[in-house]
Amino acid sequence: MRVSPDLSVEIAGVPFPNPVMPASGAYEVDEIHDNFFSPSELGAVINKTIFLHPRPGNPPPRIWETPCGMLNAIGIPCDGAEAFIWDKLPNLRKLGPPVVVSIAGETMEEWIELSELIESTGMADLLELNLSCPNLSDGIPWSTEEKTLERVVSAVVSRVKLPVIAKLSPVVTDIADMARTAEGAGASALSMINTYKGMAIDIKRKRPVLGNVTGGLSGPAIRPLAVWAVYSAYETVKIPIIGMGGIDGPTAAIEFLLAGASAVAVGMYNFIDPFTMKKTIEGIRTYLLEEGYSSVREIIGMAHTRA
Ligand SMILES: Cc1cc2nc3c(=O)[nH]c(=O)nc-3n(C[C@H](O)[C@H](O)[C@H](O)COP(=O)(O)O)c2cc1C
Repeated sequence: MRVSPDLSVEIAGVPFPNPVMPASGAYEVDEIHDNFFSPSELGAVINKTIFLHPRPGNPPPRIWETPCGMLNAIGIPCDGAEAFIWDKLPNLRKLGPPVVVSIAGETMEEWIELSELIESTGMADLLELNLSCPNLSDGIPWSTEEKTLERVVSAVVSRVKLPVIAKLSPVVTDIADMARTAEGAGASALSMINTYKGMAIDIKRKRPVLGNVTGGLSGPAIRPLAVWAVYSAYETVKIPIIGMGGIDGPTAAIEFLLAGASAVAVGMYNFIDPFTMKKTIEGIRTYLLEEGYSSVREIIGMAHTRA
């Protein structure tokens, strides 16, 4: 009888029972999704990014299907941190897998206040900084300018004991430089990548399709770009990487693991097949068995091995 391979991985000292989790914002752990499979089977759970204060989000339409992908301009509507802490966080905590709390700030003060608030609940295992949303003072995303990225990550890291994941925007000249900057600023792990900025135009109305004009492109359309981002960051940093961008099943997830991701997250494809994450966990197990590996950790970064 063949022994089932060990799927457990570790992100910043936090044990994950397997390497598959949802990408923030693209899979709400709630009673509707509970009908598909139990979120307790996931490697980790995560909320949609929250801000400190309530926000309305962007005007509709907010999503648009594109070839092999999707544009979204949801704009991170939220009821604010207090509502999240009372209504949602305790439910995430009860599920069993490690809890990653995704946060964003509009100002430096907000980043710090929200990080401390989440830590004070004692219900989070990791803090993910969604650095792809714009800074209120200049409208430019926090992770597209090295000095700003350095400032926000080091400010949060100096105020909380929770391990901090920096979620990076790919809309930069070289994401490996940003990965190095985040690591230097004290991030314990990286999530990569967030969406690419794009747009679609309605040729009858002769206007942008999305209410916000532009949106973030995700899904299989961006996968080769995301695999490359992870591959190049892996050569640059020592901290673990959570890879994402177009994962639609085990083959894509394994690509990311071989490129150097220690865990993977599924976003857009949950809209197409809500069983994607379950199938991905099972498919990774089958791959390891077929290839003769006893642990998923053996294949992390394997694509870098020079023959
Ligand atoms: C509808 C939608 C909402 C998203 N909301 C968030 C969010 O709130 N916070 C965040 O960090 N990323 C958000 N993302 C980005 C995803 O977490 C992920 O980084 C990106 O979509 C790439 O993965 P994918 O190609 O599997 O979707 C969102 C993506 C989608 C499709």
